[in-house]
Amino acid sequence: MRSLALLYSSFAAAVLIATLSPAHAQTSPDAGQIAYNNACRTCHSIKEGDNRLGPSLYGIVGKKAGTVSG
Ligand code: HEC
Repeated sequence: MRSLALLYSSFAAAVLIATLSPAHAQTSPDAGQIAYNNACRTCHSIKEGDNRLGPSLYGIVGKKAGTVSG
């Protein structure tokens, strides 16, 4: 499981870098969307209440972790 956690956090880091880097955002505004499609959509949906393998990421920013039941 440790290697999965490592893989998971490196994906998340890649998304954060793609999303937060202003230079990157200028050349490819959809970098966050592409990273999401590639790395997160397998297990997550961004529709409210649509929980798949992982919980829905709807309204995830500012939400308290671990509050989705299921
Ligand atoms: C292999 C399937 C899988 C992939 C791929 C995946 N996740 Fe997850 N994610 C999960 C699972 C399962 C949970 C729930 C973990 C728990 O509750 O212990 C979760 C939880 C989360 C949470 C916390 C949600 C909450 O309300 O607590 C966030 C945020 C999240 N993932 C973001 C992402 C992002 C961003 C990506 C893409 C970079 C991603 N995940 C890719 C399976 C995945």
